[in-house]
Amino acid sequence: MNSVIRQAAFRRNFSSNSIVNGFTGAVGNTPLIYLKGLSEKTGVHVYGKAEFQNPGGSVKDRAALGVVLDAEERGLLKAGGTVVEGTAGNTGIGLAHVCRARGYKCVIYMPNTQSQEKIDLLKMLGADVRPVPAVAYENPANYNHQARDYAKDLPNAIWTDQFDNTANANAHYTSTGPEIWEQTQGELDGFICATGTGGTLAGVGKYLKEKSRGKTQVWLADPPGSVLTSYISSGGKLTERSGSSITEGIGQGRITNNLGTFINDVSGAFTVSDDKSIRMLYELLDSEGLYMGASSALNVVAAVELGLKLGKGSKVATILCDGAYRYQSRLFSRQWLESKDLLNGIPSELQKYIVLD
Ligand SMILES: Cc1ncc(COP(=O)(O)O)c(C=O)c1O
Repeated sequence: MNSVIRQAAFRRNFSSNSIVNGFTGAVGNTPLIYLKGLSEKTGVHVYGKAEFQNPGGSVKDRAALGVVLDAEERGLLKAGGTVVEGTAGNTGIGLAHVCRARGYKCVIYMPNTQSQEKIDLLKMLGADVRPVPAVAYENPANYNHQARDYAKDLPNAIWTDQFDNTANANAHYTSTGPEIWEQTQGELDGFICATGTGGTLAGVGKYLKEKSRGKTQVWLADPPGSVLTSYISSGGKLTERSGSSITEGIGQGRITNNLGTFINDVSGAFTVSDDKSIRMLYELLDSEGLYMGASSALNVVAAVELGLKLGKGSKVATILCDGAYRYQSRLFSRQWLESKDLLNGIPSELQKYIVLD
């Protein structure tokens, strides 16, 4: 092979790089990664949507952009305005980026139990961070209510309300869903992911179900401590929340408005234990070279389980929500894993990745 042909062949391994407009133009159009090692091992074709490649580092960049664009379109947010949200995680990071890119102030309320790392990152991104006492949702001093009340009294300000503002799910209906459909050329037997706000599952699920005329089954995956699996398998009974999980950003105690737009069309649900999620997190690193957060690992466990239910050779897609970078001091710490009783579940050949004490 001459060197020009070799170079062209080499280049085809990289995605095309057309110019996009600023931070917001770089949100979405993420690759769909075929998880080759895992697929060969399990007999299920597993695809992970590489949402960690969004410019703010997570799937929540899409929701953040979606709620801001929606507020602009509806005339609720004008030049120089303020965007307010109650969040301790990726949504705040996405919003802080979008606000810088579009010239808005960003105010984030969060429980004062969050790590200094999270507070510092949001401040570095220009957000006004307001840690408030960590009290239950029922208490008016809860960080979500404080965010809502602050925005209500401020001119040219919005509370983005990520859980119940369906512009969140709509961002996935208009971007993530169509991208997955095109990337798989409509050949997809199943889609599954866990939910926080429910925006991703509802938006992607609705699009895939409509487009495939019901052929693509859409399932929900839950971490321990979430009530959605029992809600779906009991035909709609909400139970009290109990138990907890090491995963962040997922698990829910109620049917949010976003989830409510699709929950009746979900084909089924199951819970994935932390033990299985953490093992998959290390396996993804070892066999695929992917450094993923725990919600992504849970999603991949669920995709394999769903694929096995649908039959060998089936094709199932899920979401790789974010990377492990924001959680590495815990996920790769021997002491932390031991304290969560997860260390012994990690196969000995994978324990070489546990490099922190
Ligand atoms: C790491 C991570 N995974 C998954 C999710 C869930 O996404 P959604 O809110 O669309 O249900 C979130 C939401 O914050 C998240 O931060």
